[in-house]
Amino acid sequence: MSILAKTPPMGWNSWNTFGNNISEDLVKGVADAFISRGLKDVGYEYIVIDDCWSEKQRDVNGRLVADKKKFPGGMKALADYIHSKGLKFGIYSCVGTHTCAGYPGSFDHEFTDAQTFAEWGVDYLKYDYCYKPRNVSGEDLYKRMALALRNSGRDIVLSACNWGNDDVKKWIRESGANLYRSTGDISDNWKSILDIFHSQLNEGWSGGIDCWNDMDMLVVGMGGSGENEMVMSTGCNTSEYMAHFSIWAMMNSALMIGCDIRNMTEQTAKILTNKDVIALNQDIEGRGPYCIRQWNNMENVFSLIKPLSGGDYAVAMINISDQKGEMSLQFYDIGLPNASGMGFDFYDCWKHESIGFFTERISLDIEPHECRVFRLKVAKR
Ligand code: GLA
Repeated sequence: MSILAKTPPMGWNSWNTFGNNISEDLVKGVADAFISRGLKDVGYEYIVIDDCWSEKQRDVNGRLVADKKKFPGGMKALADYIHSKGLKFGIYSCVGTHTCAGYPGSFDHEFTDAQTFAEWGVDYLKYDYCYKPRNVSGEDLYKRMALALRNSGRDIVLSACNWGNDDVKKWIRESGANLYRSTGDISDNWKSILDIFHSQLNEGWSGGIDCWNDMDMLVVGMGGSGENEMVMSTGCNTSEYMAHFSIWAMMNSALMIGCDIRNMTEQTAKILTNKDVIALNQDIEGRGPYCIRQWNNMENVFSLIKPLSGGDYAVAMINISDQKGEMSLQFYDIGLPNASGMGFDFYDCWKHESIGFFTERISLDIEPHECRVFRLKVAKR
């Protein structure tokens, strides 16, 4: 018996950059890059092949078959390769009759497919919501696949992907899934990042141990490039990608990289491997943040406050506007009255240094589209 997702899953997914254009060589190259670019060292472990990996027809026994041109060595060999690097292998299917891109879905084949995945050595299944028969509820279909996976003889994480539809938060944990998509598809621009951020702010329960909120794959490092027109867009600047990564980390989202890590820049690697920010996401208590808005700029400047295990607090200060903004955080708003005789040491998780000890309040200028992230430690004045 084991808990499959003690903390939000971390990994890479093929969809954002590659869409339909996936192959064995690509996936092996990605596995190599997990090691050479330091991703494995900071906790990324799942390599997930999204839609478009199979033949259009099942075989005579009703089993899914890997596309023979894209994956000539078959999925078992690919899984072995990934496992040989100490990493885990993820694949994709759908609750409906077809996947979103029109390949065979798992509807009414749940147990066969779970068995096939287990035999291949799959560790993670992203399970989408297209072509769902109307007369069956999503809840029932996720329950089915969860049951099938749990009895496949292998530990396989179930990553539900119903885009936040049908009040998913009300039933997903009970279904047995380990994470769930809470929003529609991301695209590689700042507006899309903000739309997702807003949709999850003040949403109440947003995941916890073994059933995490998945705000969609990261677009960090895509820079307007890629082969998937559904995700490709204008791209973002560095500070926007840092804010995106910070927000996903603070809100306990799964951290699934979506860029081509084989060719990522040093700047992108720096963002994705920021251990101080990752530690906030992977905190063992898994508490979501609450939000305090800047009193005179409520729509644009926010602080997210997240209690961490062991007494520290994480604070992210975000300015979503195009003008410089001030965030003035009163410590009594986060539980520290003046009479306590205590203050906070502010450690900057992007600069990797302390910016000082503060009592009563802190006021900082936040640049447009910037997110500053701190780890706070309580200490006596
Ligand atoms: C849906 C999902 C995406 C991706 C595509 C694949 O849109 O939300 O993340 O998996 O399907 O077709």
